[in-house]
Amino acid sequence: MSNKTQFKNYIAGKWEKAKDNTFIDQNPADREDVLGLFPESGADEVDRAVRAAHVAFDAWRLTPAPQRAEIIFRAAEILKKRKEELARIMTREMGKVIKEARGDVQEAVDMALHAAGEGRRLFGQTTPSELKNKFAMSVRMPIGVCGLITPWNFPMAIPSWKIFPALVTGNTAVFKPAEDTPLCGTRFVEILEEAGLPPGVLNLVHGGASTGQLIVRHPDIRLISFTGSCEVGREVAEHAARTRKRCSLEMGGKNAQIVMEDANLELAVEGALWGAFGTTGQRCTATSRIILHEKIYEPFRRKFIQRAKKIKIGDGSKDRAVEMGPLVNEIQKKRVREYVEIGKKEGAKVECGGNEPAGSRFKKGNFYSPTVFTQVRPKMRIMQEEIFGPVTCLVKVKSLEEAIRVLNDTPYGLSSSIYTENVNRAFKAIRDIEAGITYINGPTIGAEVHLPFGGIKNTGNGHREGGETGYDIFTEWKTVFVDYSGKLQKAQIDVE
Ligand code: UN1
Repeated sequence: MSNKTQFKNYIAGKWEKAKDNTFIDQNPADREDVLGLFPESGADEVDRAVRAAHVAFDAWRLTPAPQRAEIIFRAAEILKKRKEELARIMTREMGKVIKEARGDVQEAVDMALHAAGEGRRLFGQTTPSELKNKFAMSVRMPIGVCGLITPWNFPMAIPSWKIFPALVTGNTAVFKPAEDTPLCGTRFVEILEEAGLPPGVLNLVHGGASTGQLIVRHPDIRLISFTGSCEVGREVAEHAARTRKRCSLEMGGKNAQIVMEDANLELAVEGALWGAFGTTGQRCTATSRIILHEKIYEPFRRKFIQRAKKIKIGDGSKDRAVEMGPLVNEIQKKRVREYVEIGKKEGAKVECGGNEPAGSRFKKGNFYSPTVFTQVRPKMRIMQEEIFGPVTCLVKVKSLEEAIRVLNDTPYGLSSSIYTENVNRAFKAIRDIEAGITYINGPTIGAEVHLPFGGIKNTGNGHREGGETGYDIFTEWKTVFVDYSGKLQKAQIDVE
């Protein structure tokens, strides 16, 4: 792949070169390493992609779900076979270390297998009617053309959460991967093409925010599934409310891990390191606050900082031993830098990190050191706002009640965790923590695809991807009554 490689959109089953503008896809560990050029798509491309999906919809929705599922099953097999190659592309394209990149591809395999199995289920309900000689049931129906807009932090997993459930339920789609990970998006679509997906069912349109907006606003898009920032999510929701499009949003978190004084401390430190610095802190589920019981605050702090300082940072494409890669782009690095300054101004103390790692090998990439704040107060901006980088805060509390109060005191509610060996405390936490996901004795990251994924408050708008709930996003219910009495029977009236 030379840096002149021009990648394409995929519309109505054809790969198409950029019409006018292109954008560059760079390796965040080495900005001189260019993966290629991608189309910056405009109204014409978006319109043709939506039209293609619209044209393909009827035949696709009438294809039996088990047949739709078989294509997805084949995609799972191809993804599995090409896991290593895809993981390497991902590491080069967005910087996550190779082990994590493999996990990202694996998550797409898992989702494909789940959706493929669902092709032979898609259960509705059958239930007795209140009247004689009458049958009652409910069935799922597809919605139409879906606009699927995905972020760069899980460039295979998150597209899989949207694309596979959308397709197995009989929808067609226009997919726009993030501008930072267009090559992963391209490979994903190529795999579905190879698996036998008919033309027009899935269309790929590259581009940035303006392309995304064109998709969201297109009148023939019936459903928008978006994962990304709160600001964009709000715009999507406002537009969807005005036009009565369905929209499913996932917009981040400010997740916390509680550690009680009875916890297995070593396990809690290990979990917090993985939760805070895995994927360079660029997960919606990342642990950005660690709430510690005062009795173990000091030993935890010492161990945690000691270990955070030792995390091996670098270019995961060149060195397999690297534990933490770069931030995805310079904008994200600037954002992290700014938040660290905000934290300092607010009076918090930087215990480690707070800078770019020293050394010439870091100069070409967007690297930032694992950063830990102490002396924080719950209302500080670094305790309230999503930073999306390798930055976490240690907070001291006196009781479980206070810990849960601090944990709940943010505008978000995605993931959460508590380390305790006490079953009563664990169940109180499960009951009282305001979040879509709670882990007991595990970090805030690492959800599995066959359970609901999403959150409350500013994190989302009530939908859950993954699991059975993922299929609710992409279907409408139809309730069916079959009256075989041969006469007019009036519900609620002819019952005596
Ligand atoms: C995200 O950060 O948006 O639970 C997704 C996890 C991963 C998915 C994260 N399976 O951490």
